[in-house]
Amino acid sequence: MAPSLCRTLVFGLCAIHTAFAQSYTEKYRPQYHFTPKDNWMNDPNGLIYYNGVYHMFYQYNPGGNTWGAMSWGHATSRDMTHWKHQPVALQARGFPNNITEMFFSGTVVADEKNTSGFGSRKKAPLVAMYTSYYPMAQNLPSGKSVQKDQQAQSIAYSLDEGMTWTTYDAANPVILDPPSQYADQVKEFRDPSVFWHDATNKWVAVISLAKLHKLLVYTSSDLKTWKHESEFGPVNAVDGVWECPSFFPLAVDGNKRNVKWVAQIGLNPGGPPGTIGSGTQYVVGSFDGKKFTADANNVYPAPTTPKDSVIFQDFEKAGTFTDLGWNATGDFVGAGPANGPINGQQTVTGFSGERFVNTFLNGDATTGVLTSPSFKVTQKYINFLIGGGYNPGKTCVNLKVDGKVVRTATGTNNEKLSWTGWDVSAFQGLNAVIEIVDSLTGGWGHVNVDEISFSNTLAETQKANWMDYGPDFYAALSFNGLPSEDRIDIAWMNNWQYGQAIPTSPWRSAMSVPRTLSLKTINRKTTLVQEPIDNLKSLEKSRKYSRSWNSVQQGDQELDLSGKAMDITLTFSDRSPASGKSPQFGLVLRASADSKQQTRVGYDFTTKQLFVDRSASGEVGFDSTFPAVFYAPLSPGNDGTVTIRILVDWSSVEVFGGKGETSLTAQIFPSDDAVRARIFSTDGNTRNVKISASQIGSAWN
Ligand SMILES: *[C@@H]1O[C@H](CO)[C@@H](O)[C@H](O)[C@H]1NC(C)=O
Ligand SMILES: *[C@@H]1O[C@H](CO)[C@@H](O)[C@H](O)[C@H]1NC(C)=O
Ligand SMILES: *[C@@H]1O[C@H](CO)[C@@H](O)[C@H](O)[C@H]1NC(C)=O
Repeated sequence: MAPSLCRTLVFGLCAIHTAFAQSYTEKYRPQYHFTPKDNWMNDPNGLIYYNGVYHMFYQYNPGGNTWGAMSWGHATSRDMTHWKHQPVALQARGFPNNITEMFFSGTVVADEKNTSGFGSRKKAPLVAMYTSYYPMAQNLPSGKSVQKDQQAQSIAYSLDEGMTWTTYDAANPVILDPPSQYADQVKEFRDPSVFWHDATNKWVAVISLAKLHKLLVYTSSDLKTWKHESEFGPVNAVDGVWECPSFFPLAVDGNKRNVKWVAQIGLNPGGPPGTIGSGTQYVVGSFDGKKFTADANNVYPAPTTPKDSVIFQDFEKAGTFTDLGWNATGDFVGAGPANGPINGQQTVTGFSGERFVNTFLNGDATTGVLTSPSFKVTQKYINFLIGGGYNPGKTCVNLKVDGKVVRTATGTNNEKLSWTGWDVSAFQGLNAVIEIVDSLTGGWGHVNVDEISFSNTLAETQKANWMDYGPDFYAALSFNGLPSEDRIDIAWMNNWQYGQAIPTSPWRSAMSVPRTLSLKTINRKTTLVQEPIDNLKSLEKSRKYSRSWNSVQQGDQELDLSGKAMDITLTFSDRSPASGKSPQFGLVLRASADSKQQTRVGYDFTTKQLFVDRSASGEVGFDSTFPAVFYAPLSPGNDGTVTIRILVDWSSVEVFGGKGETSLTAQIFPSDDAVRARIFSTDGNTRNVKISASQIGSAWN
């Protein structure tokens, strides 16, 4: 029990590595998902396999348990399963008292050919490229000057395999500003992802113009001088900033003569449908070393007003709400629709025409109710654009029939307005009113509404290829330094919506398990497939659980399987639902004896969707959006079998459907004694059921 020797000098201080036993058994501590020993972590950075060692760098605040003095933490592994914590690699400059530069996300390459000239006589360098964030305006040692809050791209190198780093102060930042036509985006220019492109013999960097949803491609022959070549985007999901982009090649169905490229893009907010906050989308296409081109069938049009719409109210007429025939109460008395995109400090987009309802009138403090004139429901659907706060019942649009709310919608904590709609066929022929309610004065206490219309077509939502349909998979990055058929991704298993409030201490945030990526043709579409790495098996405990049933009867049954960390595979036959029924089948996991706590993972045979229900999963009250059900599309295999693999850890479930064409990742915070498992089948029996499960041990032992 003595401190180990001082191995590293960080700004003249000995970074002490205590050898005190650390068991990693605190409440909610993931056992086989990577976490920092303490403090805040977000995006994985600089993933690289080099000289037999996997390196993971990550966004890290050495000063606390929420986002702060962003630095690069560092860990190493020989199997991506057992990780060893290493000293902070790039510590915020001036930490802790006078921070002048933070190290935002980026990547690391091995410069084997010493193109940068950073190598010593004997050693090739590792080179990191990252975003320098400058909290204050300053003149830099390179002679360049930056403005307050500027984001620019810098490099650093290591001659000791990533343990210590030297920033290239002579010329940093090596990309000072975005291209001149985007000069106003200097505070939204980040997250370089660098790789070597063999065919053109060049380094390539992909960098995001976050607010414009554009990825800029730069090339270089020495990692120091960069040339802007092209841009990609916006495309598909754009309901938030684009961050942490990367491109990588994969052979389709393992055919090396049919290689396609994947653009992987983080999005915050505006994640997958039904989630609030962060998500990750991908686009399949081609890349020639300079320009990424999406495959035509990977670009989905932006939804527009549903066809045959009869506009009920588009809020275009100037004047007050009363002039439009609406009844206004509270702060809406005398007010009218907002004109133009700017609302206080927030930028609102996605409205139609010039005017729309924006209840941010005097900031979030504004409250009141707007009620439409009465109308008769004639068409099947009522569609509208909605944005603003996610506050069911508090910042919302309601349909009222006979004075009762029969349909309601709220925003997604996103200023952008998006299409939504209600099936109102049950009310055809009845009189109704639409109400726009804002009764909340705090954060996100406003709602944006536009283009209320009647139609026999339901409004469509924006289609995108989602890497993961759960709420907790963001900033995914793959390893450099592996053969191209070994493409392995790790993502931040958290969400900006509530990430800094999750009930863990002294650390916050875990990484997803490493996932092997491939491209497979599924239902005639080139699809990204993800599977947990095989190395995880090294943590399996010897006793395996397996059981099969010709038919699982309708109802719930307790399994003689329990645990807090497990790898479970469940297969069963698809069912054709009888009309009016919506049968489901699956497992209840991390359940308490009284079942008050439980996480449900299952399949809905009607909608052909995988789901995770964490609404009663344990501690859920730290954010109003946390308790929820998440859905992911999943077709049964050709033989009619549905396959679901579930990785359960002390505070997460990672679910893979089919061959891995669908994944759904969600954090959960159950009690220590919530360890039971049950199997359930609703609205009838489910046939040909097989379950196999292994307990997973700790990766920290
Ligand atoms: C913070 O650091 C900068 C750059 O080293 C220096 O110019 C400035 O005087 C420092 N401010 C304080 C309050 O120490
Ligand atoms: C890398 O380049 C530098 C600068 O030219 C040189 O001093 C060093 O010897 C080179 N190292 C290797 C391994 O090529
Ligand atoms: C508007 O609504 C308020 C509150 O429900 C009600 O008291 C008032 O009579 C309504 N005004 C009109 C003109 O309908």
